[in-house]
Amino acid sequence: MFDHLLDRAADEPAYRQLYRRISAAVLDGTLAIGARLPSARSLASQLGIARGTVEAAYGQLAGEGYIIGRGAAGTFVAAVAVVGRNLPVPAPAIPRAMGSAGGPLPFQMGLPALDRFPRKLWSRLAARQAHVLSTAALLTPDPAGIAPLRHAIARYLAVARGIAVLPEQVIVTAGFQGALGLICRVLEIAGRPVWMEEPGYFLGRDGLAAAGAHIVGVPVDGEGLDVAAGIALAPTARLAMVSPSHHSPLGVALSLPRRLQLLGWAATEGSWIVEDDYDSEFRYVGRPLPPLKSLDRVGRVLYVGTFSKALFPGLRLGYLVAPAELTERLAETAALLAPLPAADSQATLAAFLAEGHFGRHIRRMRQLYARRRAALARELERQFGRERVSLGAGGMHVLLGLDDGVDDVAAVEACELAGLAPSALSRAYAGPAQRHGLLLSFTNLEPAQAPAVVQRLARALSMPARP
Ligand SMILES: Cc1ncc(COP(=O)(O)O)c(C=O)c1O
Repeated sequence: MFDHLLDRAADEPAYRQLYRRISAAVLDGTLAIGARLPSARSLASQLGIARGTVEAAYGQLAGEGYIIGRGAAGTFVAAVAVVGRNLPVPAPAIPRAMGSAGGPLPFQMGLPALDRFPRKLWSRLAARQAHVLSTAALLTPDPAGIAPLRHAIARYLAVARGIAVLPEQVIVTAGFQGALGLICRVLEIAGRPVWMEEPGYFLGRDGLAAAGAHIVGVPVDGEGLDVAAGIALAPTARLAMVSPSHHSPLGVALSLPRRLQLLGWAATEGSWIVEDDYDSEFRYVGRPLPPLKSLDRVGRVLYVGTFSKALFPGLRLGYLVAPAELTERLAETAALLAPLPAADSQATLAAFLAEGHFGRHIRRMRQLYARRRAALARELERQFGRERVSLGAGGMHVLLGLDDGVDDVAAVEACELAGLAPSALSRAYAGPAQRHGLLLSFTNLEPAQAPAVVQRLARALSMPARP
């Protein structure tokens, strides 16, 4: 294709023509993600133009994210060129394989199965809510969430999570992150020590840091957070942030002795526990684990749930159940400093919950994810060996261990060039990473696609692909 890049009769400068034709070829998939471009010198000599002209075009393409220069290795078509742009162009090979133009890339973390979200049903409920808009809904909504949604969440928590709460104790938030903002303000954590799982959820840690907390990384082992280590490191921490049902990102559950030890510590020190119950709906082995909150007899746990994983992250809705002594302050702070998403999306969600669609959706997704997870695990085990693949009992991703000495950030960069989007385990550590590996989401990967995608992963990691 490179021979036809220039129209010598045209008025348009040569560098501009190169830029335009190459960017179009990236967008329409003629140049595949990860494809290597000729060096500026060789393309210049092929076209009989100055090397500086090609370099000017490449510079602009790189600046706009179409291509990436990788030093001596060469210049490659970047994945972001297509994913980051929401342009109505034919999808390149990879998103096309995923079945949706501009859809998630293979292994992209933090997303539910976007292809199975019941869009029609959701829009029907949304239209109905708009149609019956009451006067109350036109006024400023209750800053702690509209009443039907708080009722529906309280009912869901009682039935699905064994947490008995009154609707008034449920504070609707803008997802987990919105809840964290409220908690940080009300507990006045600036300058105070807080326990954070190490490794842990990076946005949780960044949120605590942004609120000025002094973050104390507490190691996580096969039983979850090492509570004794936390007590040794910072006995009077203001709060402990934990993901007890399914640790993010290692997937372990906090053992019962550790749960009791953590609750005992919080009761003795007057410290608080933030329970991030972000994906407990998705467990494939045994029954869902009860949340820490259900064991909280002394009122130290602030329980946070989110609809980002079960429905979609753009909804920006979650909830917080706090001990009684904090509820009023949290609600006041929400009113003044953290207003919620519009009442109509809350009303749509309330209907989705109250009419039983949520329960059905979760059951369907659990079955779908079990199939997608098994297919991915099977291929990973075939390609890389069983010992490298950690499944855990639940969640939305699997962990692929890398050899000692292999840097997972570099591995992720190599994968990105091949149009894959895993995440590096080492990024979940605040301090030096104890383990390197790739976090691979399976939620958007059809079983039939798993063999080809895993082969592509093996090639990107330059591991000999097994036949
Ligand atoms: C560990 C963890 N907690 C919480 C969330 C949800 O965050 P939010 O509700 O702010 O979208 C996620 C989403 O990816 C997560 O991975």
